[in-house]
Amino acid sequence: MNFFHLALVLLPLSFICPPVGSCIEQERLTLLRFLAELSPPHDNGLAASWRNRTDCCTWEGIICDVDGAVTEILLASRGLEGRISSSLSELTSLSRLNLSYNSLSGGLPPELIFSGSIVVLDVSFNCLGGELQEVDSSSSDWPLQVLNISSNLFTGAFPSTTWEKMSNLVAINASNNSFTGHIPSSFCISSLSFAALDLCYNQFSGEIPAGIGKCSALRMLKAGHNNITGALPDDLFHATSLEYLSFPNNGLQGTIKLVIKLSNLVFLDLGGEQFQWQGPRIYRRAQETGGASHGP
Ligand SMILES: *[C@@H]1O[C@H](CO)[C@@H](O)[C@H](O)[C@H]1NC(C)=O
Ligand SMILES: *[C@@H]1O[C@H](CO)[C@@H](O)[C@H](O)[C@H]1NC(C)=O
Ligand SMILES: *[C@@H]1O[C@H](CO)[C@@H](O)[C@H](O)[C@H]1NC(C)=O
Ligand SMILES: *[C@@H]1O[C@H](CO)[C@@H](O)[C@H](O)[C@H]1NC(C)=O
Ligand SMILES: *[C@@H]1O[C@H](CO)[C@@H](O)[C@H](O)[C@H]1NC(C)=O
Ligand SMILES: *[C@@H]1O[C@H](CO)[C@@H](O)[C@H](O)[C@H]1NC(C)=O
Repeated sequence: MNFFHLALVLLPLSFICPPVGSCIEQERLTLLRFLAELSPPHDNGLAASWRNRTDCCTWEGIICDVDGAVTEILLASRGLEGRISSSLSELTSLSRLNLSYNSLSGGLPPELIFSGSIVVLDVSFNCLGGELQEVDSSSSDWPLQVLNISSNLFTGAFPSTTWEKMSNLVAINASNNSFTGHIPSSFCISSLSFAALDLCYNQFSGEIPAGIGKCSALRMLKAGHNNITGALPDDLFHATSLEYLSFPNNGLQGTIKLVIKLSNLVFLDLGGEQFQWQGPRIYRRAQETGGASHGP
């Protein structure tokens, strides 16, 4: 009786005055470790802004939730140099990390891709390099939806078994790196929402793998400017949500039979390939788009 009475009095108060999140001390120290691994040969303004204030939820580029846990780090175009600290993976509420358009070097810590919280990871337009590792875990509920590592210096084979374990994947952008080897086919093994794959401007070889056609939500597939050969696999034409299909500057050839099924296609660029057409509707569309002149 007394308890319910008390609850009725207190509840409205907590709605009127939600707690204001101020930085969790442990997370402040983690962010300072991240800062320490950046190299500040010139003052990028960030260090001064961060060190001036103790509440890390008020720091530039940091967003916290009401409990004072860091949920977003948005530091695109801040002139950052140095390395990305793997300590960021200790921020257990961090869902969005955007470090694009900086000059970060070294590797991408795998803990950030295989994080228990990160949903959107964008490190595009940096100088990150090395190889990406396959995940070494049986877990399959990684929250990652968007990975943009485009325009870096990554090399080696692109992970393949890793994507089998990512059931929330929506988009991968690995364009403009130096990845070699085959294009994996595993993006949609556990993700039903996979919609965009951009692998253009790399050194991928081999054929477009069968299996990508299983991606029932795939809208955009870009793999131009690689060394891909062979025919397009028939199952690609079962990916009927495809709107944008582009493979210019490869060694593809063959016959396109089932292209007519791609009723949502609005952009098709197979520029420079040796194809025999069997789909009059798409042939007309391909001409309308102007082929390779529309870019990768
Ligand atoms: C840091 O604090 C000093 C002294 O209060 C102030 O002069 C300076 O402008 C502050 N810098 C930033 C980036 O907020
Ligand atoms: C990251 O930030 C850049 C610059 O503001 C923006 O263009 C890009 O869309 C952001 N990435 C994601 C995945 O939201
Ligand atoms: C990186 O790619 C993602 C997914 O395609 C996109 O949302 C984001 O805007 C891109 N970032 C930049 C800086 O272009
Ligand atoms: C991938 O990133 C590049 C920039 O590096 C951008 O031009 C391209 O549109 C992105 N692709 C997708 C599918 O978002
Ligand atoms: C590829 O990356 C380099 C270095 O970041 C950049 O200068 C160039 O504009 C990028 N090219 C494309 C096609 O995005
Ligand atoms: C492209 O692939 C062919 C056949 O696999 C190979 O002979 C050639 O060296 C490759 N070219 C490049 C630029 O990697």
